[in-house]
Parts: sequence; structure tokens; C-alpha cells
Amino acid sequence: MNAKKIITVFGATGAQGGGLAHSMLEDRDGPFAVRAVTRDTASTAARALAAAGAEVVAADLDDAAAVERALDGAFGAYFVTFFWAHFSPERELAEARCLAQAARAAGLEHVIWSTLEDTRRWMSLDDPRMPTLMGKYKVPHFDAKGEADQYFRDAGVPTTFLLTSFYWDNLIHFGSGPKPAADGKLDFVLPMGNARLPGIAAEDIGRCAHGIFRRGAELIGQTVGIAGEHLTGAEMAAELARALGREVRHLDVPPEVYRGFGFPGADDLGNMFQFKRDFNADFCAARSVERSRALNPRLQTFAQWLAANAARIPLG
Ligand SMILES: NC(=O)c1ccc[n+]([C@@H]2O[C@H](COP(=O)([O-])OP(=O)(O)OC[C@H]3O[C@@H](n4cnc5c(N)ncnc54)[C@H](OP(=O)(O)O)[C@@H]3O)[C@@H](O)[C@H]2O)c1
Repeated sequence: MNAKKIITVFGATGAQGGGLAHSMLEDRDGPFAVRAVTRDTASTAARALAAAGAEVVAADLDDAAAVERALDGAFGAYFVTFFWAHFSPERELAEARCLAQAARAAGLEHVIWSTLEDTRRWMSLDDPRMPTLMGKYKVPHFDAKGEADQYFRDAGVPTTFLLTSFYWDNLIHFGSGPKPAADGKLDFVLPMGNARLPGIAAEDIGRCAHGIFRRGAELIGQTVGIAGEHLTGAEMAAELARALGREVRHLDVPPEVYRGFGFPGADDLGNMFQFKRDFNADFCAARSVERSRALNPRLQTFAQWLAANAARIPLG
């Protein structure tokens, strides 16, 4: 019999869930066993999790019966949805509703829901400062997650609402790194003026989530925001310059220009950066670095993250 409490981790082969799964697996004497969810149990990442001691199970978020099976007998779960796989807030809402109902049916004792602000609480749809997208959102990949918080409350699921931050790993994987300008120097685009961007090493999100589970019931019902550091674009450019050994300038593109960049999701991200800029005090206050470090003593600063990862940032 497994004396440990099973935590079902969605996205276990990815950034957030992967950080949590590996943090719990490294904690060999800890109270939790990992049930890692993937759509492909034969993938390299899934096999690595199994080799590290996880129970690896197959489930697709869009398959309610598979989600129920993945939660069967578990103590808790880490729930994250994957907006950039489909760009549909409606699909995220449907997935979150399914997760909340399955968590209730399984009688889970602690769920962490990876959420973000519903920006419409700060800016109504008729507010002209930024365009309304997809008919009823300002920042679709934020708003749907925030709206979905209510599903967990309505279902009576014991939930901690985890407000995540911009991953510094976006500089490697999401095209957010500095780009060469005509003069050969590097430009780091961040459409936020002098406002501060709460950022975090993606693996630290999972480690903070592990810290939340370790606190037991203490943080159930609470919203916990996490970040490794709050930095301005100029400060990030200076850290990048130090790590890369090249001049890096902060390029403060206006959000309206960023929205027109034309890549998929540029309008959503332009609105997101504007929201973070225009409501910067609230956005930063919701993400305490001190509290994040208390949950995860290994929490990295941007400089520490760069020391380990700068060589992986594509500069082309
Ligand atoms: N990038 C940022 O700065 C940032 C910041 C805050 C929040 N977010 C949010 O983070 C979310 C993504 O999380 P992440 O970065 O951890 O994801 P990720 O690294 O892109 O992917 C995580 C894993 O999820 C699994 N997955 C994808 N679709 C699935 C489905 N339909 N059913 C079951 N599993 C599925 C995939 O595993 P398999 O292939 O093994 O099935 C994938 O490896 C997004 O919604 C985004 O809005 C991102």
C-alpha cells in the first residue's frame, strides 16, 4: 500500500506541472507521490518521469472520463490548462469546469488551480483603452482562467488559486528574447514603459506549488501570487547585457504597435502587457517575491536564471 498522498499533476511533461512533478520526486522522504498526466506515456518526458518514480497515466483534458480516472484515489491535484495549444478561451473554460467537477466527484482534499487575473474586473469591455477580443475578452488567455476560478468555488473544491507570472523561459521558447537591430546591437522588446514585470523561472512555479501542498490546508481558499523578481524592461535589458556580454537595449514598443505585430496571439499579448503596465501596482502587489521564497527557498532571481540559461536564448 502506498502510504504517500497521491498528487495528480496535469501538464507534468511541461513547464508548470514538470516543475512540480520533479520537485516532489526529488523530495524522496516527502509526503507526496506523483501521478503524472500526459497524453503520450511513451514520450521521452513521460518515460523520464516514470524513471524518476512517478506513476504515469494517460489522459486528455478534453476527455472527462479520462480526467476522472486520473483523479481516482488521489489526495490532490495540480490543474493547468494550455491556452497556446488552441487559442480558445471557451475551451479553457470547458476544461476548467470539467476539472472542477471531477475534483469534487473524486473528493480531492487539495487542488491547486493555475490561474490568472480576469482583467475585465479592472477594465470593462466598453473601455476604449484596449480592444475587446473574441467578442467578450480583453486578455483572453487571462480572462478565461480568472473566470474559471468560480467553477472551483461553486463546486466546493478545496482550492488554492495560484497566480503565476511571466516565465523568463519565454526568452528561450516563446520568441521573447532580444533581437539584433540594424546596428548589430540587441533590442529587448517589452511594451510596458517603466512598469515592472513580475517574472519567474518556469520550474520555480512548480516548486512554489509544492510548497503550497506542503503547507497542508493553510492556503486552501486563498489566492497566492508568485514571482521571482519584479523588473522593469530597462533592468531586464541590463541583466541580459551582463549575461550575454553584449549591449542590450530595452525597446518600449507601444502596446497598440505590439498588437499589430501579426503573429498568432499578438493582440492578446499586446493587451496583456498593457494591462500589466496600466494596473502595475495591483499586478505586482498580487505577486509577493518574499512569500514565493518562503514557499520555495530555491526561488531564482533573473540573474541566477540567466547564469544557467542565457546560452540557450536564441538571438537570431
Ligand atoms: N508562458 C508564460 O509566461 C505563462 C505565464 C503564466 C501562465 N501561463 C499559462 O501556462 C499555460 C501552459 O502551461 P505550461 O507552460 O506548463 O504548458 P506547456 O509546457 O506548454 O505544456 C505542458 C504539457 O501539457 C500537456 N498538454 C497539452 N495539451 C493537453 C491536453 N489537451 N490534455 C492533457 N495534457 C495536455 C502536454 O503534455 P503531453 O504532450 O505529454 O500530453 C505538455 O507537455 C497556458 O495556459 C499559459 O497561458 C504561461
